[in-house]
Amino acid sequence: MKVISSITELQHELANFDKEQVALVPTMGCLHEGHISLIQKAKRLADIVVVSIYVNPLQFGANEDLDNYPRTLEADIVACENEGVDFIFHPQNLYPEHGIQVGLHVDSLSQGLCGASRQGHFDGVVTVVNILFNIVQPQLAIFGEKDFQQLTIIQRMASDLHMPVEVIGAETVREEDGLAKSSRNTYLNAEQRTQAREISIALSLMQQAVAESLSLEDTLEIALAHLKKFGIQAEYLEICYTDSLQPAQSLDTDKPLRALIAAKVGSTRLIDNMPLCPTSAAKPNPEDNPLCA
Ligand code: PAJ
Repeated sequence: MKVISSITELQHELANFDKEQVALVPTMGCLHEGHISLIQKAKRLADIVVVSIYVNPLQFGANEDLDNYPRTLEADIVACENEGVDFIFHPQNLYPEHGIQVGLHVDSLSQGLCGASRQGHFDGVVTVVNILFNIVQPQLAIFGEKDFQQLTIIQRMASDLHMPVEVIGAETVREEDGLAKSSRNTYLNAEQRTQAREISIALSLMQQAVAESLSLEDTLEIALAHLKKFGIQAEYLEICYTDSLQPAQSLDTDKPLRALIAAKVGSTRLIDNMPLCPTSAAKPNPEDNPLCA
């Protein structure tokens, strides 16, 4: 495995692989089992795996945790080595010295959910991912469902802009009690850590409610009551169509649905999401909604 920080050096190395399939796993480091599952998927699907580690300033808002974002390069290198990664790309900076003049912009897909409280966040994400795609030119790129809005937006970016890359999603990896693994979990103290598991439990309750044919309103209410009981206030809790990420009008639909949440535990903002399978969606054609099959 080679750890490379220079763009030209990486491109020089990758030029040796003409016929091989290259997969890119973009990350901001502080790698945990969620990231590792993406790397393992990349290994299964491609010949050469590049993991990028870059804490992208463009996607952090003024009051967000850019400076405190955990950086654990030495441990990340060991983890990648153990997984048989071919290249770690760890640039110092991906932007021109005096700032970027031309970036990408996301339209309505970025306006709801996390985008509502994180102005410009997804523009920063697609801009850096586009830069990484241009540098690495991978055939495949793997992103986690954990950041479902991000995955949806990047899939739309690749399709809207006819990028020659297949963007592949990977399931959320969780702690034993259901909490989605996240670099930000390291900010939680013991009490907050116990509280945080109620977020995924609330989503599981929604899955159960939907499977039992409860209404959309009652399903949301059950989850909100559960969160309230444990002193958690959701920044948002929504049931959305998975393609448009618009709030669903009712559960009586053949379209795939997803429950998505963001909530603060202490000062740590956590996000999670799970597929919902209304009994109507599970019926006639599971291929339209494989998560319900
Ligand atoms: P980061 O938060 O480091 O996440 C890198 C990738 O790991 C993302 O695709 C994310 O969805 C995935 N991931 C995180 N936790 C996961 C979990 N518990 N299970 C499965 N996958 C998980 O997301 C970013 O970095 C950045 O926005 C980036 C795409 C690198 C652009 O800067």
